[in-house]
Amino acid sequence: MHRFEYRDGELYCEDVRVRDVVAKYGTPLYLYSRNTFKDHFYRLKEAFKEVRPIICYSVKANSNLAVLDTLRQCGAGFDVVSSGEIFRVQQIGADPRKVVYASVGKDEADIRLALDWGILMFNVESEAELWLINNVAQKMGKKAKVALRINPDVDARTHDYITTAKKENKFGIDLYTAETIFANKRRYPNVEIVGLHIHIGSQIIDTRPYLTALEKVKQFISRIQSYKPRLKYLNIGGGLGIRYKDERPDTADRFAERVLPAIKSLGLRLIMEPGRFIAGNSGIFLTKVIYVKRTPAKNFVVVDGGMNDLIRPSLYKAYHFIWPIEDRARDRMVADVVGPICESGDFFAKDRDLPVVDRGDILAVFSAGAYGFVMASNYNSRPRPAEVMVDKDKVFLIRKRESFKDLIRGEKII
Ligand SMILES: Cc1ncc(COP(=O)(O)O)c(C=O)c1O
Repeated sequence: MHRFEYRDGELYCEDVRVRDVVAKYGTPLYLYSRNTFKDHFYRLKEAFKEVRPIICYSVKANSNLAVLDTLRQCGAGFDVVSSGEIFRVQQIGADPRKVVYASVGKDEADIRLALDWGILMFNVESEAELWLINNVAQKMGKKAKVALRINPDVDARTHDYITTAKKENKFGIDLYTAETIFANKRRYPNVEIVGLHIHIGSQIIDTRPYLTALEKVKQFISRIQSYKPRLKYLNIGGGLGIRYKDERPDTADRFAERVLPAIKSLGLRLIMEPGRFIAGNSGIFLTKVIYVKRTPAKNFVVVDGGMNDLIRPSLYKAYHFIWPIEDRARDRMVADVVGPICESGDFFAKDRDLPVVDRGDILAVFSAGAYGFVMASNYNSRPRPAEVMVDKDKVFLIRKRESFKDLIRGEKII
């Protein structure tokens, strides 16, 4: 569900005509619906209200300060993966007691920053990291709260690049090692293991892999009972899928209905880290048709946005629905929608059935709110796009389009 809809052939974001936003801010452009972010957050909160989860929005999905602040106002905590993300959530006055910190590569400075700020806990991804956290905490005269991110060896049946809980993936601690950590927990006097964490992948449209993972967590907890763990939290990560094309992901209600019995049986406070579920359908990417190029082999719709702006189709072969913002009766054509970048991988769609478009038409690339702008780069020396947020009938520029000067900031001729 989202608040982008066609009214009398014109695309609207909430109560604002998208054409007017483009006229003011140009393309390529990210456009977000503030109330869609809120709706998604509240839907999840409501579905799980029985267990009062701590919902830590996964900052990596969309880290614009306006997005983070919108969610903070709804009561969200944050899942961060770098000192940079900590810096971002600090800028919006987030409560550190609702911040959890994952990532396989936290270094001393990251750990120090997080401990200093007083985050709720680290999600620890290796024994070596646990050592380092213990040492840093010792030097700082602190006790660090952590959850062990266990790798339950579960196939989330999603794209290979976003599967994270198979034993060959780099994430989490295998169950055997995790058990030895509990057995030897006295070796880490400056660490308190208060929780377990799993994150089995992203864009998961079927709840079953979660149930399999939770069953493994349950068995693991019973195996470590003799070590008298003092667990308070279970963090089930993110990963809830959304509809890009014709997927039918479980709704928040259905997901809750299916996982809650397993969660309740463990008696631990639930933490969740949704990213895509909240942000994915809260944003679109807008791009202008520069040329329509017809070749003997194919038609190409060449647009002004590129893989540097939205890399998901190139990186994951991800499908995004694409449609002109003016939906009038037109003939149809089959075409690749491609950007101006010097790479054959620079495309938004292949062999797509589209209305016939002309130079100057604006296309909306839907479901671009998560892993869109945050993955944008300056490849081909292209300034990154602006980001705009709509709240009912109000329009806010929440990130200026980059300038050519931004492209060379910090560079020096020698
Ligand atoms: C540890 C962790 N938590 C949460 C998320 C958010 O995942 P999603 O956007 O699929 O909800 C990710 C994504 O990579 C992650 O690595």
